[in-house]
Amino acid sequence: MVESGSKPTTARKSVFAGLPHVAVDEIFALNHAFIADTHPQKVSLGIGVYRTNEGKPWPLPTVEKVEKQLLEEKDITRHEYLAIEGNIGFLQLARDLMFGFDSKNESAAEKEAKSRIASVQAVSGTGANHVGAIFLAHHLKPKHVWLSDPSWANHNTIWDLSGIPIKQYPYYNPSTRKLDFEGMLQKLETEAQEGDAILLHACAHNPTGLDPTQEQWKAIVDVCERKRIFPFFDSAYQGFASGSLEKDAWAVRYVLNEKPEMEMCVAQSFSKNCGLYGQRVGAFHLVTVPELRETALKNLCHIIRGEYSMAPRYGAEIVKKILSDDELKAQWQGDLEVMSSRIISMRKALYEELVRLQTPGTWDHIVIQNGMFSYTGLTPEQVVALKEKYHIYLLKSGRASISGLSENNVAYVAKAIDDVVRNVV
Ligand code: LMR
Repeated sequence: MVESGSKPTTARKSVFAGLPHVAVDEIFALNHAFIADTHPQKVSLGIGVYRTNEGKPWPLPTVEKVEKQLLEEKDITRHEYLAIEGNIGFLQLARDLMFGFDSKNESAAEKEAKSRIASVQAVSGTGANHVGAIFLAHHLKPKHVWLSDPSWANHNTIWDLSGIPIKQYPYYNPSTRKLDFEGMLQKLETEAQEGDAILLHACAHNPTGLDPTQEQWKAIVDVCERKRIFPFFDSAYQGFASGSLEKDAWAVRYVLNEKPEMEMCVAQSFSKNCGLYGQRVGAFHLVTVPELRETALKNLCHIIRGEYSMAPRYGAEIVKKILSDDELKAQWQGDLEVMSSRIISMRKALYEELVRLQTPGTWDHIVIQNGMFSYTGLTPEQVVALKEKYHIYLLKSGRASISGLSENNVAYVAKAIDDVVRNVV
């Protein structure tokens, strides 16, 4: 019997005692460390967000214009629930943007193609990847999902949570710093099994910045078709990578238009191309056969309802307004041009500075790669030294978010890289 006033002597044991250790997310942990750093010359080349030449966030002028309109409209329904699949107008426009439809002049082929696509609004790219992974886990039951080596770290987390075993296909050759296209194809040819799923980055591969050419895409799609591997495109940078909405959607549109027998899905994010990072705007599109579209949509809604009922409405309303107005859409394309061209010019500036300093090694990969990131080839030790000595933050894989560079800091960053390349192994 426990005497009154005395404490129980046995230590309490939690039902969670076996909780596994999970690593913190490197990208967000690094961003927090950068924010906490008080050094005046600190540089963030970590998280993939657009920054101006002054190192500041850039609310897109087109987005600001629409926000003003929304404020003035004061629509009394603006905080009401959406449908479970999301904002229908937004979804149609997002689908048209991804697949290259012109709904104002709809052709018979376009009408047919649309009848195959089930679209739902998603909590940006991560949410779209997640809904897609859960849908495939339940209804395709792939033996494996193939991810590129390397891939965006969150792909591993998302598929890990889906319970589908992950396999990797070669993608990056560290000695040439180029795409390992032969290695990729060979691996898929010899080891992928019918019914497997494959995650493909539609453009601006994260983290390497290396995309297949159109001829290479055709060969990748051919393997998927022959071996019945289900393609899952992640499209997080449409218009942001090259400045062209068409070019950045080429691979997805190729499958839709040239391979009408193939089913596939696309996770679409508006975080980067509209600068709406925290608003979580995205869509998931499943391309199937017309007879199954409605049932697929219901199943997707079933997943969404059970998880979070529906995606948030504010950011999607902004995107809808931009995409539904020709003038706003043209302005937005101008914003995309501003962002993509600043990144391209910063790649060039860093490359030229490293060449000028005669930094050991070759650096042309910095200008060859495209999109938000450069896979610099710096070692983990050099990355640590950049942070500790120079307060320059990048991922330990050597991935650098180029938009963190500016005319004001590029010489400082190049000098720091020059130092660590010469002195840190
Ligand atoms: C990145 O890769 O840095 C971005 O896509 C941000 C994120 O969500 O990881």
